[in-house]
Amino acid sequence: MMYEHLLVETKGQVAIVTINNPKTLNALNSATLTELNACLSDIEQSKDIRVTIVTGSGAKAFVAGADISEMVNATPAEGRAMSLLAKETFSRLETMPQVTIAAVNGFALGGGCELSMACDIRIASEKAVFGQPECGLGILPGFGGTQRLARLIGKGRAKELIFTCDRIDAQEAYRIGLVNKVVPAEELMDACMAMAEKIQGNGSYAIALAKASIETGTDTDLANGLAVEATNFGLSFATHDKKEGMTAFLEKRKAVFVGE
Ligand code: HXC
Repeated sequence: MMYEHLLVETKGQVAIVTINNPKTLNALNSATLTELNACLSDIEQSKDIRVTIVTGSGAKAFVAGADISEMVNATPAEGRAMSLLAKETFSRLETMPQVTIAAVNGFALGGGCELSMACDIRIASEKAVFGQPECGLGILPGFGGTQRLARLIGKGRAKELIFTCDRIDAQEAYRIGLVNKVVPAEELMDACMAMAEKIQGNGSYAIALAKASIETGTDTDLANGLAVEATNFGLSFATHDKKEGMTAFLEKRKAVFVGE
């Protein structure tokens, strides 16, 4: 499928989705969000894709935020609609069975930081810069930032970043647990592909169940989270991959998983 604001390529079982609005440092306007939503919905239904990498085009920015020129004259209803469109789109990254990795290649500000936080894993280039500058524009993070940042790095640090609008570099983002890994800029995609390959070597159905258990569990109390885990654990016993994974271990050979 062709998009105006995205570049999509597949390498084996990995889809690479690049936000491609170079004139605005890949800012997310409604058209881009609509395309991203459709693209992720396609990937979600694909049996051939195991990992999705989200990145930004060019050397400077991952995503510099929501498009300010679109928001400047927007009404409250339009602002809410934009937030809800991003909510649907970004939530897909968390609910889709495939693993999602943000390859943060530069500025990840506002909606850009929020997009990266909706991915399962964040790998940052040394040149990446994170921040939530919304309060400096008279608005607040509206693409999930008040919720996901607090869940990722804790309430105190999230409040500091959102209230001060401070920008932080990749090392600081790593120190506070906002990113999983920092690598030299030229090694970013290789590092993401290497992680994708490791993930692909494991049972994808089990990974999807583990992902769903983690996502459900972090939004509920421990007892219910553990109940969801037990159910999903039981479900994994119905799969070919469980039989194959355990048999391969006992036969001292590498497992061949089929994702079912
Ligand atoms: C629209 C943007 C943009 C954005 C950059 N541009 N960010 N356009 N929306 N978010 C445009 C600039 O206007 C400029 O256009 C071109 O991209 C290059 O940017 P410069 O500012 O000239 O580059 P530089 O000086 O290197 O500064 C880079 C930057 C800065 C630090 C990333 O662009 C910046 O602060 N951008 C805004 C970041 C931000 O506030 N993001 C949060 C948005 S609110 P021209 O035409 O001049 O070349 C948000 C809310 C989410 O995300 C929730 C909504 C519901």
